[in-house]
Amino acid sequence: MLRGALTNNYQKMKTLTCSKKLSFFLLMAATLVSSVSARTTLALEGGWTFTKGDPAGAMNNTFDDTGWEKVTVPHDWAIYGPFDKTIDRQMVVIEQNNEKVATEKTGRTGALPYVGVGWYRTCFLLPDFREGQKVTLLFDGAMSRATVYVNGTKVGLWGYGYNSFYMDITPYIKAGEPVNLAVRLENLEESSRWYPGAGLYRNVYVIVTEKTCIETWGTYITTPIVTKELAKLCLQTRVEQPVEGLKLVTDIKGPDGQLVETSTTNQVIGNEIEQIMTVNQPHLWSPETPFLYTAESKLLKGEEVIDTYTTRFGIRSISFTPANGFQLNGVTRKFKGVCLHHDLGPLGAAVNLSALRRQLTILKDMGCDAIRTSHNMPATELLDLCDEMGFMVMNEPFDEWKRSKCKNGYNLFFDEWAEKDLVNFIRRDRNHPCVVMWSIGNEVPEQSYKDGSRVAYFLREIVHREDPTRPVTSGMDRVDPAISNQFAATLDVPGLNYRLPKYQQAYNLLPQGFILGSETASTVSSRGSYKFPVKPGKDVRYPDHHCSSYDLEACNWSNLPDEDWMWQDDKDWVIGEFVWTGFDYLGEPTPYDEMWPSRSSYFGICDLAGLPKDRYYLYRSRWNTSEPTLHVLPHWNWAGREGQVTPVFVYTSYPEAELFINGKSQGRLKKGTSGLERYRLMWNDVTYQPGTLKVIAYDVQGVVAATKELKTAGVPARLVLRADRTELKADGKDIAFVTVSVVDKDGNECPDAANQLQFSVKGAGTYRAACNGDQTSLEQFHLPKMKLFSGKLVVLVQSAKKAGTITLEVTGKGLKTARLTLSAKK
Ligand code: GAL
Repeated sequence: MLRGALTNNYQKMKTLTCSKKLSFFLLMAATLVSSVSARTTLALEGGWTFTKGDPAGAMNNTFDDTGWEKVTVPHDWAIYGPFDKTIDRQMVVIEQNNEKVATEKTGRTGALPYVGVGWYRTCFLLPDFREGQKVTLLFDGAMSRATVYVNGTKVGLWGYGYNSFYMDITPYIKAGEPVNLAVRLENLEESSRWYPGAGLYRNVYVIVTEKTCIETWGTYITTPIVTKELAKLCLQTRVEQPVEGLKLVTDIKGPDGQLVETSTTNQVIGNEIEQIMTVNQPHLWSPETPFLYTAESKLLKGEEVIDTYTTRFGIRSISFTPANGFQLNGVTRKFKGVCLHHDLGPLGAAVNLSALRRQLTILKDMGCDAIRTSHNMPATELLDLCDEMGFMVMNEPFDEWKRSKCKNGYNLFFDEWAEKDLVNFIRRDRNHPCVVMWSIGNEVPEQSYKDGSRVAYFLREIVHREDPTRPVTSGMDRVDPAISNQFAATLDVPGLNYRLPKYQQAYNLLPQGFILGSETASTVSSRGSYKFPVKPGKDVRYPDHHCSSYDLEACNWSNLPDEDWMWQDDKDWVIGEFVWTGFDYLGEPTPYDEMWPSRSSYFGICDLAGLPKDRYYLYRSRWNTSEPTLHVLPHWNWAGREGQVTPVFVYTSYPEAELFINGKSQGRLKKGTSGLERYRLMWNDVTYQPGTLKVIAYDVQGVVAATKELKTAGVPARLVLRADRTELKADGKDIAFVTVSVVDKDGNECPDAANQLQFSVKGAGTYRAACNGDQTSLEQFHLPKMKLFSGKLVVLVQSAKKAGTITLEVTGKGLKTARLTLSAKK
């Protein structure tokens, strides 16, 4: 089907001209996503050109883009760096961090060149488009202030860089002629509190339909009755330009693809059709059982199918009540969630399915069951994966309303755009079973103003109108004013960011009868970096700009994981948490945001490369209830610390363990009932001597359940390469994440190795990027060389569009060269 369509184009092409410099290659750039009766969806991936700045006449058809860079979309123009402390340097007071005077902040937005103007252009043919049909351009996200031109005419604009939007471009194109598309984007300085990325960083689609068709995001499926025996489905379908004699046939298919129910309706009231169906013995969606159904809607005029639209959904019930807290399918559970920013470390903001899937795989193994899309609309691919892999989502669009947190942030858009942004966001996402609540904003300054609750009410009502089935929340950090001005009471789910000492008071004073830890912890650490003496601290800074991996350091407003857990374990009315954050992200390098170099966050449970920090195992020991955890820290390579106190911590799901150093017992410890001892086993007085550290864990019966050994490693001898997947799709997009570590001659990992490495990729793939997770590293991700950090880094190998083998070679001075072979399949 795809080939046929494009071959035909090729025949036509010879007589057509795009802009004069655009090659045939560009015309072949569209990838067919789907083609069902009278609806064709093409992804515009390859064949774009890009330039920075504002070349005169760039929107014109005839404009010469020779010399523009050839890029594929999704594309983030800023991720290639170089890192530079002067980029978006901000003299600001961060009120949210309890600052009182303005200081210079470097690296707040990642020290990457995202500020400024960028232009993208492409040219494509629409294979089967006839006069009288309709063509829609859909942007999953464009960073930011997008202005869209088609064949030289301005079609429209969209301000907020995180939202999806679509435009009808039918009036600007002619059947059989190529379509010239130009997009101008602009990012202002001081527009973000983290790295926003830049460019067409999410997918762009062209959709061809009849004029009478199902609206974009025009289906809405709810399940008002869900029991084990049956589910009632309500399906609303919105039709564009309805005409006489329309009929809608909807087939519901089960998780196995079999037809389970069909409904036919020929009553269109206004532009809406409603269908009600029953599914017997439904397979309920949950993080543990992520069953998905599809609704295939066929719009007919007489007997002719004039549109087909597929909607994936799940059957599940949610409720939030004082009596039972949060319930999914009638069962109370507490959110084991993490907050995620949208960047994908070394890929920047450019969305990539493999990278998202890898993040979720890592989180799943930790036992995490929920994601908060802090603080903006997520990529639609993330929600698809959350549906499929089983994560509940707090879907959040805004970090700012009308009162600013950043000079050029969303406050500039709020009045004109807030409702439009919310409507697109909710209509796009409301069929995802993973979405269990909508947040209307994060720590908005309106919390402390008299009119704050009015704005909250205004937004809440839009959400309730667009989706009455899910509650509205917001992350609050100004608890006292938010309670006294009704802001907190306006929400369906009161979310507190940190502020543990305010939990009880908020519970007592608020009407809802439960509290959600909408943002928790903000503990800081650098993978594999341990600081002495070991003691809890706030805003602690070290000369190397790292934070200690003993997991005892936080910010003046934040806390340790253990402190959140005490509330969740001791109070039924605390319904769980969303930890700040699952992964380190670019920008916001607290507590070093006034120091250079430092360009990414320290909050992650995993580092920027996706490698688990020690904290990962602390959460895993609590959250993963199906597999045991036994993790010991620090590493045992402390030349120069012989005879000095070097505490050993064990993060384990077992209640008890005994520690041995070179065979000598350091004592057997049991988890306590209060303080940190409740969740961690800590031998605080161990003195370091090289050799073997061994932990024996005991189960509740006191029987030996597991052991773990760490050995002092010798000098680095060879490299070890381990891929998350060895078989890739030959689609030019799939990525294998290869962890590179270095071991001594006996195979012991060298935990402090910092060797300089080089990478080369041959065969059916390319080198995409590398990342070592060091927040202070200024090495550019896309260059094929990088230093190990704490003995490790990750190399990203991307498939080409051809099948074959891919070989990654990693070299380093004095180390045996390592090779890894992957395969790419069509
Ligand atoms: C919160 C905020 C997050 C992040 C975090 C760092 O207050 O909501 O976006 O800034 O602090 O601790």
